Amino acid sequence: MDIGRILIIDDENLVCWSLAKMLKRIGHLVEIANTGTDARLKLENFTPDLILLDASLPDIEDLQLLEEFKAVKPDLPVIVMTANYHSNLAFQAFSLGAEDYIGKPFNIDIVERAVQKIFVQKQLAKEVNPAGEKLRKKYEQDQLVGNCPSMVDLFKTINICARNDCKTILVLGESGTGKELVTHAIHSQSARKDAPLVEVNCASIPDNLLENELFGHEKGAYTDAGTREVGVFELAEGGTVFLDEIGDMPLNMQAKILKVIENRKFRRLGGQKEIETDVRIIAATNHDLTKMVQQGTFRGDLFYRLNMMCLILKPLRERKKCIPSMVEYFIDRLNGEYGRAVEGISSDALKLLMAHTWPGNVRELRNALERAMMLEQSKILTIEHFCVCSGAEQEKSGSCIYGCSVPVASTIILPPEGISIEEVEKEYIKQALGRYDGNQTKAAKCLGLTLDTLRYRRKKFGLEKYPAVPSSISAPTVEKKDQDPAKIVPG
Ligand SMILES: Nc1ncnc2c1ncn2[C@@H]1O[C@H](COP(=O)(O)OP(=O)(O)OP(=O)(O)O)[C@@H](O)[C@H]1O
Ligand SMILES: [Mg+2]
Repeated sequence: MDIGRILIIDDENLVCWSLAKMLKRIGHLVEIANTGTDARLKLENFTPDLILLDASLPDIEDLQLLEEFKAVKPDLPVIVMTANYHSNLAFQAFSLGAEDYIGKPFNIDIVERAVQKIFVQKQLAKEVNPAGEKLRKKYEQDQLVGNCPSMVDLFKTINICARNDCKTILVLGESGTGKELVTHAIHSQSARKDAPLVEVNCASIPDNLLENELFGHEKGAYTDAGTREVGVFELAEGGTVFLDEIGDMPLNMQAKILKVIENRKFRRLGGQKEIETDVRIIAATNHDLTKMVQQGTFRGDLFYRLNMMCLILKPLRERKKCIPSMVEYFIDRLNGEYGRAVEGISSDALKLLMAHTWPGNVRELRNALERAMMLEQSKILTIEHFCVCSGAEQEKSGSCIYGCSVPVASTIILPPEGISIEEVEKEYIKQALGRYDGNQTKAAKCLGLTLDTLRYRRKKFGLEKYPAVPSSISAPTVEKKDQDPAKIVPG
C-alpha cells in the first residue's frame, strides 16, 4: 500500500495527537494544523494525498476549507470529522465532495479503516487506469433515467453519438440537467469505454494553469516544472476528454483547442515535438454560446466546429412527465445509499413535485428527495417532508420545495410603496444558498457575485448557518391528508 502524506486539521490537540500517532504507526507522513489559517500556510509547502478535516474550526466558517480545497483540487480526498453529527453538515460535506464523514467522538479504528480504504482505492485506480477510473466509478452507480419523449429521444441520440464515434460533441443545458451524466453515458456506450474519460472543469482552473492541465509540460518549461508531466489529452488517449463549462474557457485557450480538433496534434508546454492525439472531445456548458459568439466572448469557429453534433438537455420544467420515474429511481437509489426502506411517495406529494418549476433541475429534485429521506423516518414521503416554508413565504413564492422557493413574478416591478433592496438581496442570497445546499461557489456564480462578496454578504445578513436543518418540518398551510401511498409506475 502507498505511504501517504496526510494533513490533519483540528483545533483539539488531543485529537490531532491520537490521529497522528495512529497514522504514523501505519506508515503515513503526517502534518498538523490547528486553525484554518494554519492549514492554508501548511499547504504552501506540504502537498497531502489526504486531508482529515474538522468541520468546525475557530477561525473559519464550517466547511469553508473543504470548499476551498475542492475548488483547487477536486480529486484530493478529504475526510470530514465533526461533533455536530446530526446536523445537515454531513449532507453539505458530501455535496461539496467530501470522501467520508466521521462523527466525534470517534473510535480510532474507524478512522484508520476510512483512511486505509481511501489509499487502497487510490492504488486500485492507479493500477487499473491512471486517470479515468475514479470518474467511471462515480458514474457506475449513477444512471440516466426518465421516460418522457424528450428523454427517449436523448437516449437515441446518445446511442448514435456513441456508435458513430463523432470526434466532437457539444452538450448544452441549464445547470443540473444532467450534462455530466450524458457525457458519461456517451463514453460508456462507445468503443472507447475501456480507455479513460478525463474531465477538466474549465471554470475552476485558473486561466494560467489550464494549458498545463490540458497539454502537460516538459521538464524545465517553467520555474516549478521539475519533471515532465503529461496533461489531460495524453491521459485520455484512446478515450474521451470532457471539457466541462467550456463557456468559461478563455479565448486564447479556445484557439488552442480548435487547433487540436483540426489537426489532432498538440505540444506540451515547453515542448518542440508535436504529439498526435486520438480522443473524442465532449464539451458542455450552461451558457448561451450563440449569444457569447455575438458578444465576442466565445470563438465562432470553435462554436461551429463543436456544434456539428449538439445535444440539448431540456430543463426539468419542460419534461415534467419524467418526474415520477425519476422520483422512483432516486428513492430506490437513496434507500441503498442510506440503508433506508422508503417505499414510495404520496400522491399529493408527487403532485407538489410536479407543480414545482425546478430551477435547479434534476439536481434540485434529487437533493429535495435526499433531504426528505435523511430527515424523516417514515416509509412514505408526504407533502410535509418537502415543504418547509412558512405559509406567508409560500404564498409569496407560489411554490416552495425544501430550501428553494421560486418567485412567481418573472418581471421585477418596483412596488409603489418602494422596497428594501437589502431585504431583496438577502432573500436572493438565501434562495441561492438553498438551491445549492450551501455550496458557496455555486451560489455565488448563480448570483453573479465573487466568492468573497457572497461570503461577506452572508455574514452581513446573518446567513452563515443557512440552510440549516429546521427544528420541525411542517407545513401549516397544507392538510395532512395524503397518507395514501401512490406507487409510482414508470410509463
Ligand atoms: N436524467 C437523469 N437521471 C438521473 N439522474 C440525473 C439525471 N439528470 C441529472 N441527474 C442527476 O442530477 C445531478 C446533476 O447532474 P449533472 O451533474 O450531470 O448536471 P450538469 O448539467 O452537469 O450540471 P452543472 O451544469 O451544474 O454542472 C446529478 O446528481 C445527476 O446524477
Ligand atoms: Mg456538470
